[in-house]
This record gives sequence, structure tokens and C-alpha cells, in this order.
Amino acid sequence: MEHAVARGVPVIAAGQTMMSNYQAMQARLAADIAAAEDLDALEALRVIALGKAGSITALLKSLGAMTPDERQAQGPQIHALRETITAALAERKAALDAAALDIKLAAEAIDMTLPADAAPKGSVHSVSQVMDELTEIFADMGFAVATGPEIEDDWHNFTALNIPETHPARAMHDTFYFPDVDAEGRAMLLRTHTSPVQIRTMMNQEPPIRIIAPGRVYRSDSDATHTPMFHQVEGLVIDRGIHMGHLKWTLETFLKAYFERDDIVLRLRPSYFPFTEPSAEVDVGYKQEKGRRIVGGHGDDDGHAWMELLGSGMVNRRVIANCGLDPDVWQGFAFGVGVDRLAMLKYGMDDLRAFFDGDLRWLAHYGFGALSVPTLSGGISA
Ligand code: PHE
Repeated sequence: MEHAVARGVPVIAAGQTMMSNYQAMQARLAADIAAAEDLDALEALRVIALGKAGSITALLKSLGAMTPDERQAQGPQIHALRETITAALAERKAALDAAALDIKLAAEAIDMTLPADAAPKGSVHSVSQVMDELTEIFADMGFAVATGPEIEDDWHNFTALNIPETHPARAMHDTFYFPDVDAEGRAMLLRTHTSPVQIRTMMNQEPPIRIIAPGRVYRSDSDATHTPMFHQVEGLVIDRGIHMGHLKWTLETFLKAYFERDDIVLRLRPSYFPFTEPSAEVDVGYKQEKGRRIVGGHGDDDGHAWMELLGSGMVNRRVIANCGLDPDVWQGFAFGVGVDRLAMLKYGMDDLRAFFDGDLRWLAHYGFGALSVPTLSGGISA
């Protein structure tokens, strides 16, 4: 004891007194810590207790000057005191941190159920709008959406679709070719139609298949109703016992839903595509009203005419076989529809080139509200 006094370390009496001194110190510190109002106040308390010149630090230092007996008696008490206070500091810090986070979160909260306070800027392009409308209509009929690359090889774009190299249809497509071939020696090109997605789908998934494939296609062609890039939606159904009746019903149901009227008149004209047999082109009747084309009525009389909208047919057996399926088991139909033309006919635009000018006045006039998503229940073109 005397030894310790001589060195100027805190003197703590033995027995009961020693215990109560530590307990009193712990109680005081713990109360101060619990009452600390912010992180700065808490840090100040930490320094007072555990800092270099802190009270508990001094007690720990005093252990070195004690006799072995004293150290054995007091060491555990001092260490327990340090641990208790360290834990109390950590607990208070966690509480203060959590409270600070709560305040921050409350300040940053956004009520997602409130209407946007400013009118949304920009608009949905009519091509995107029509694609969304088609997706909604076909989803309701059980079609999934499939996609494929816009940079294709000539096997998927032509050969697998029963258009061999010497076939005149290759020339008909005004194809944009890339200068190089791919790793398999196939010529690379910008796809001229969405039909290669038929091939990719049949090769990658087991029938029954019901998909639509919307996307961009490219042909070296340009005038008021043709642009070098335009949009198609491909449709493909592969199952057992599929026939032309299914095709006709599907297209009729789709066009009635799309134009939102029941008096649509369709004309199926015999046609030719190498990948369908038999093939049919589908026209829809319209009349001219105040310079606009309005869908409805029969064509060819009383000011009515037909607009060619899509190509279709029963999938050629050779195409089914090219994809590794047995054409005696699986049959199907396919169609390809021009999205830009569908938009022109429904929304009354007369020049396709304006679709891609990015003219803000055109977009403001023909664009669609970003928040009005087409749904069958809420209205397809709301
Ligand atoms: N791919 C054809 C075209 O672009 C359209 C089509 C698709 C025809 C599917 C029949 C079947 O002209």
C-alpha cells in the first residue's frame, strides 16, 4: 500500500470499500453514458474514462505497482469495470447511430403513392407504344415475348428459312451485309426481318411454342412508306394439329383488339414466302376520311380500299425440319407484321420518315404519356 502511495497512483482501500469505489465509479460513468445526447458528448466521456489520462486507464496502470496479492484482488474488478464501460459506450453509440439514421430516413422518405407533382417530361414514341400494345394483346392470348440479335448470320436470316443462296428472295431483301464472315464462315448481316427469331426459338425450346418477337429490321430501301430501319413483330405458333383456321382467328382477334373495333374486315390473299406453305398476305379494309385513313368496312367500293399489313402462312415443313423438329408431329403458323404501318394506320400519320426525325413537335403531337401503360382492361391506346 505504502509503495503505491509513494508512486502517486490512486489508492483504494481493501475489502468492501474497494468494491463500492469501483461500483460508484461504474454507476456514475454508466449514467453519464446513457444520458449522452450526441456522438460528441459520448466521445468526451470515452476520453474521460478510457483515454490516455482517463480514470479507468489510470486504474489499469496502477496494477503494475501493486503487490501480487493486491493485484489478484483488484485486477479482475478493474478489468470488469473497463469491459462494462466499453460495452456501455458501444451500446450508446449504436443507439445514437440508429436514431440518426431514423431521422435521415424520415427526412429522405418519398411517398410512392402520391401522384407525381410535375407533369412528366418527354413522351413514349408511337413505335414503342404500338409494340407495348401488341405485347399486351398477345400476352392475353398466351404468347411469350422472344428476342434475337439484330446482327445476324445468313444461315438464321435466310438458309434455315428455306431461302438458299441462289434464291431470288435474297436479292429481294436488299440486305445490308458486313464485310467479314463469322467464326463459322457465315456471312454477317443486319437482319432483314424478324423471322430468324422463329429459327432461334424452335432450336432452343421444346414445342408447344407460342411467341411474338418484336424488333428492328433493316433493308436498303427508302421512301415515304419505307425506311432503311423499320420495325416488325413476328408471331410463331408450333403445336400438334395447327391449321389455317387458327392463323385466321388469331390475326382477326389481334387486329380487332388493336384497332379497338369489331367491324374490321380482313382479306387473306394467296401469296408466297419460302418459309411458309401455304402463304397469305393479310390486308385490312379502310376508308379515307378528312384525309386520314380510317380502318373499317369492305375494300374496293364506295371509297374503301385495302392496306397490306402482314405476311403469314403455315410454317414450311422444311423450316421445321431445319430446326431439328419432326414436321409430321409438329405444325404451326407464323406471321410478320409491320409495326410502323400499324402505327400509321391507327394514329393517322402519313409519312414514315417522320418517325425517325426526332422532331420534338412531331413527338409532342404523336407521342404517348409515359405513365399510360396499355392494358386490355384500362384501354389499349388510353
Ligand atoms: N418475314 C416476312 C417479311 O418480312 C413476313 C413473314 C413472316 C411472312 C412470317 C410469313 C411468315 O416480309
